[in-house]
This record gives sequence, structure tokens and C-alpha cells, in this order.
Amino acid sequence: MSGPLAPPRVRLATLPTPLQPAPRLSEVAGVEIWLKRDDLTGLGLGGNKVRGLEYLLGDALARGCDHLVTGGGPGSNWAMLAALAARRHGLRATLVCYGDEVPAVGNAALAVLAEARLRFTGDPDRASVDRVVEAVAAELRAAGERPLALGRGGATPVGALGYATAAVELAGQLAATGVGPASFWLATGSCGTQGGLHAGVAWQRLGGVVGVTVSRPAPVCVERVTALARGVADLLGVPAPAAAPTVVDGHLGPGYGRRSAEGDEAAALVARTEGVFLDPVFGAKAMAGLLAATRRGEVTGPVVFLVSGGAPTLFTTS
Ligand SMILES: Cc1ncc(COP(=O)(O)O)c(C=O)c1O
Repeated sequence: MSGPLAPPRVRLATLPTPLQPAPRLSEVAGVEIWLKRDDLTGLGLGGNKVRGLEYLLGDALARGCDHLVTGGGPGSNWAMLAALAARRHGLRATLVCYGDEVPAVGNAALAVLAEARLRFTGDPDRASVDRVVEAVAAELRAAGERPLALGRGGATPVGALGYATAAVELAGQLAATGVGPASFWLATGSCGTQGGLHAGVAWQRLGGVVGVTVSRPAPVCVERVTALARGVADLLGVPAPAAAPTVVDGHLGPGYGRRSAEGDEAAALVARTEGVFLDPVFGAKAMAGLLAATRRGEVTGPVVFLVSGGAPTLFTTS
């Protein structure tokens, strides 16, 4: 097989992000933990989605698109960052939100600041976003624009390239710090981040990835991660991972997008030991999953925990 292919990419992130030891957190957990600071990727208020957007925007520009259409909830980190990335590269942006129109606060307000247009589906079903994204793209096409329609989370093989290539960055950092074989823990929502990382760590021979699901049931995530990892390996021209992905259930709390008591406790521990904030929707619940696994003696370490951003939701999530 020839070497990895080089899909089109634009620059949005400040890379590499730091890989920091977390000694006081490690002492409490009884396991060596490192924090991969992807809350510091640099576009807007940072976050994991910026890595995938480098490839999604690269693809959009290569296809001559002039308008990005995507969506999520009005509080979606993904949608806000997609709008910022589009605007930064001169594309218009329309964000479709499920439910009835609500005042723009948090991520929605930040997207509006960047002149994204908001559209509400009027339907509380999250899947209504995907239907309306396609309908808006069709309207724009009929009006002579060249839209790129993306589903919630940007969870496509192209978007997942962001974390496949993050594995190359991590391989260099782990070699430089002398950390032994590590497992990688992260929050899993739309599965693009885990899909990319699963493919990337297999490619770089780095160890296992454990996703803590914060939205879909674990078996659904396993299927999605497997498919995305295969897709991204094909795009790179490298072998698909042989191992099935690991997805941990049981840390959703009262529901997607809502705080959980154990997540809040885990986030408070990380804030007071390491001075790092975990968002309540993703990072806090993933850390709760990691800490629960360490208490059960299931984790030997070292662990690299992905701090995936979501800063705007620190102030808006109840
Ligand atoms: C802050 C944050 N962390 C983690 C995730 C999960 O990433 P993915 O949707 O790729 O599974 C998201 C998704 O929006 C996010 O915004």
C-alpha cells in the first residue's frame, strides 16, 4: 500500500494543542492521567470540532461551495464552530435548529455575531434538523447558490479526518514525553471524533480508545464509530482498524444536553486539581465515566483524556 493520501485542508486550528500531565487529578484517580487540551484549538472558544472543520472546509472550497448549511440544537458547539469556520473562509452560513424559535443565547448568539442565519424546524425531534438542512440546501441551489449541506456534528469520514491526523500529533507528543502505551478517553456524541481517533491510533499503533456516550446508546455508537473509522482509513489510504471500538454507557444522566450530578462532581474535581474546565454536556460526563472505571480498577493507565471544549455551554446548561 502506498503512503497516506493528503485530502484538501484549510488552516483553522492552533496546533499542536498541549498534552499536559495532570498530577493532582492522577493522585485522586490512582491512575496516571494526561490532558489533551483540544479546548485550546483556537477558533472561537476552541474545541474538538475545529480539527474536523479544517477538512470539511477544505472539501467545501475544493468543490467551489459558497454557503455552509448545517445545524443542531440552538446550543450546539458544532453548529457555532461550523458557522465561524465558514465565515472565516468567506462562505455564508445557515444553521438549522430543532424546535421552536428561542432567543439566541450562548452558542447561537455567537453564531449570529458571525452573521450566521438561524432557521428553526418547529419540531422538537433532533432528526428534524437533517431534513430541514437538505431542504434549505435545495432552496439555495434553486436560487443559484452553491451550498454544502452537513449533518449534525459533522460526523462524516471527511470530518473524522481531524482526529485521525490528531493521532499523528499525539504520537509525536507521547514519544517526546516518554509516556508508555496509553488509552485515550473522550466523550462521544455524533461519533466523528471517536471514529477518527479510532482509525488514527490504529494507524499510529498507539493503543485503545474509549468513548463515553453522552447521547446515543452504546451499540449504535459502536456501529457509527466502526463505519466512520473505515471511511476515514479509506480516505487516508491506510488499513482500517482491526479491533472493534469501545463505547461506555451509563453516564448520560437526565439526558443529552443536560447536566448530571456525577458529571458536575467530576468537572469540579478537575477544576480544583488542575485548573481546567470540562463542559457539562460532554467532557464532564466522559470524566465521570473514566473516574468510575478507575474506581472499579478497570484502568491501569497511562490515560490521555481529551478535553474537547464546549466553553460556551459552561454558562448556559442547566
Ligand atoms: C465539546 C464537545 N465535546 C465532545 C463532542 C463529541 O464529539 P462527536 O460529536 O464527534 O462525538 C462534542 C460534539 O459536539 C462537543 O461539542
